[in-house]
Amino acid sequence: MKYQSQKIAYWFFAAAMVLFSLQIVYGFIMGFARIGYDVLHDWIPFNTARAVHTNLLVVWLLCGFMGAAYYIIPEEVERDLEWPKLAWLQYFSLLIDGVIAVGCYHFNIWEGRKFLEIPRPLDYLVVVNVLMFIANIGVTMWKGKRSTTTSMVLFMGLLFAALLYLPGMVQVRNQTVDSFYRWWVVHLWVEGVWELIMGGMLCYLLIKLTGVDREVVEKWLYLIVGLTFLSGILGTGHHYYYIGTPRYWLIVGGVFSALEPLAFLGMAIYALAMAKRGERKHPNRIALTWSLGCAVMSFVGAGFLGMAHTLPQVNMYTHGTLVTAMHGHLAFWGAYAMIVLAMIAYALPLMTGRKLWDTPLASWAFWTSNIGMLGMTGALAVAGITQVNLERRMGLDFMLVQKEIQVHFIGMLLAAALFTVGIGMFIVMFFRHGLPNDEALGTDVAGDLVAVGK
Ligand code: HEM
Ligand code: HEM
Ligand SMILES: [Fe+2]
Repeated sequence: MKYQSQKIAYWFFAAAMVLFSLQIVYGFIMGFARIGYDVLHDWIPFNTARAVHTNLLVVWLLCGFMGAAYYIIPEEVERDLEWPKLAWLQYFSLLIDGVIAVGCYHFNIWEGRKFLEIPRPLDYLVVVNVLMFIANIGVTMWKGKRSTTTSMVLFMGLLFAALLYLPGMVQVRNQTVDSFYRWWVVHLWVEGVWELIMGGMLCYLLIKLTGVDREVVEKWLYLIVGLTFLSGILGTGHHYYYIGTPRYWLIVGGVFSALEPLAFLGMAIYALAMAKRGERKHPNRIALTWSLGCAVMSFVGAGFLGMAHTLPQVNMYTHGTLVTAMHGHLAFWGAYAMIVLAMIAYALPLMTGRKLWDTPLASWAFWTSNIGMLGMTGALAVAGITQVNLERRMGLDFMLVQKEIQVHFIGMLLAAALFTVGIGMFIVMFFRHGLPNDEALGTDVAGDLVAVGK
């Protein structure tokens, strides 16, 4: 860590850890409800738990991205953050906004649009909050000593994510039109601008961890940005097949979304190639493991499992079933949760001065959580495929089929328990590092590379 103001990142990461834990709790509430133990039903019915589970996911990932930006941008542009106090204000207002929103869901105060449930007045607070964030890192970059591709891609990703939040706030009375714009947020975030954020963070981590030249690593980033936009924008069409939009979306959505896995494949190949080329010289091996793991798992979860139900002929049967939940879990985990955890694994030792990398606990956290998540995905896949066959193809009654697939949720819960043990270990590691401090200032990575005899 080189700059005093980078320390704010720690608090964003810590909040992410707390909200992530809470997300898992709500996941279990739903999982138990699915196997017949809906004991909290009167207070937290399934729909409330679902909204809280997915919204907490989005908020903790945003906390992770913001923390990462506050850490990366000063170092990339070689100056302190422009307004450190504003970053604190933004931090607390984000958390207060999030807590109020989650509270509201428990009292049926929400908009009922999947992923965008947040009540309208709180939307405006989000806008103000994100403006503060964008202004802070934007001005820091503007006044910076140098400009890098990595910081530009990261910034553009965050800026467009902020702008794309706005179409989701357009108020219309027609459900198809509402759905049409809802996807501008949900789809264009995860299959568009968030990929830039992920690409920027991955690029930064690979530069730091592999020792490969910036020029080489950043050249790939252009390719990935190009592939993302080429496929992802019109790929939105894979949500417009059967919602009341014109028929041409069948072909547009089918063709362009089928190209989307290329961007994720590109990222996986690129990360592995850089790691090979750099011969892994950095002592923080676990941060590299998370980075490479992210690149590979995002391809499996988003690319491969996305492809599995993206063609209109298939989506006609799988739409809105547990096949979607299967893909949603591994895609969010592989691409966005893992990149945030990779960033934390990298930055935490540098902010706190406690180099707890390469410990058995850190490796166990990685493997246990990943194997657990693969198990959850597998269980959801079996449940989803059974559901599609019985309900959509054979025409059995919805509730009858839900009973039929109940057993698969026992498997899912066992895998989820394993996953939770892994995340528990990661969180223990997190808090073992202690707080960020000034002694850690000046722990620069070049020094680390020398230390292991580069
Ligand atoms: C990291 C990137 C991705 C994430 C986080 C992600 C996550 C999700 C989530 C959460 C949903 C459910 C959304 C909802 O119903 O509101 C969804 C739906 C969908 N995703 Fe992805 N996805 C990603 C990438 C992809 C890619 C690359 C493809 C195609 C190749 C794809 C294909 C689909 C399709 C077809 C649906 C609609 C499913 C349905 O009709 O129910 N996704 N995705
Ligand atoms: C570890 C414990 C977890 C459990 C028990 C769990 C369980 C569940 C359940 C039961 C659902 C509802 C599926 C349905 O509609 O029936 C759900 C939805 C969802 N969960 Fe989890 N989850 C867990 C962790 C996670 C994690 C770590 C992520 C992301 C990284 C995640 C992302 C999602 C998403 C995106 C959805 C919505 C999927 C869709 O739109 O269809 N969950 N989860
Ligand atoms: Fe999509």
